Amino acid sequence: MTRLLFIKASPRDESRSVQVAQAYLDALRARTPDLVVDTLALWNEPLPDFDGDRANAKLAVITGAGHDAAQRTQWDEITAIANRFAAADIYLFAVPMWNGGIPYRLKQYIDIIHQPGLLFGLDPATGYFGLLQGKRAVLVYTSGAFSPAAPSPAFGTDHHSTYMRAWLNQAGITDLAEIRYQPTLLDPDSDAAFARARAAAAALAG
Ligand SMILES: Cc1cc2nc3c(=O)[nH]c(=O)nc-3n(C[C@H](O)[C@H](O)[C@H](O)COP(=O)(O)O)c2cc1C
Repeated sequence: MTRLLFIKASPRDESRSVQVAQAYLDALRARTPDLVVDTLALWNEPLPDFDGDRANAKLAVITGAGHDAAQRTQWDEITAIANRFAAADIYLFAVPMWNGGIPYRLKQYIDIIHQPGLLFGLDPATGYFGLLQGKRAVLVYTSGAFSPAAPSPAFGTDHHSTYMRAWLNQAGITDLAEIRYQPTLLDPDSDAAFARARAAAAALAG
């Protein structure tokens, strides 16, 4: 069985990044009979606030201090959400650029799941190490004005793909494939570019 977690970071029904990612998923499903898909539409999913108590619960794990009863309940909830993520073999992310970075709902999700002992470890001598092994991530990036070919910072600065790459690598996921459909708004031939992005996504699955 191959488990794929489809993470939708756009709240828009007509999301371009989700549609490009869907083209990858449709092609992969056609050639992977044992594919099991879990879909995480982040804007429809109840996510706890990562508040002071939860931040303290995280720091207590890093420092080796124990959890009090409230923190234990919160840590159990965090662990359940992180375990759902860790259960996947393949991650499919649809990530629009928002203000140079990733949508805040995705950042909130990462803040919840990126935990010591669950996704990463920290060695005082050598630094962070990832706990997720043998996994692959496919990332679809969209942005309205930014593209790697456009002058930066005039058309924006890419903190979204760079952040996603750094975070996934820190969790141990280094097998990454990226599909860019950029720019979505400034390209006069945007429909053709959209079709090319979906075709590239389908080809990647093959
Ligand atoms: C809140 C918000 C912030 C955005 N910030 C940027 C940005 O910094 N740079 C950019 O090029 N496009 C930006 N855009 C445009 C989107 O990245 C673009 O429309 C993208 O195609 C949306 O993807 P989606 O169709 O999957 O929702 C922003 C859009 C929104 C709604």
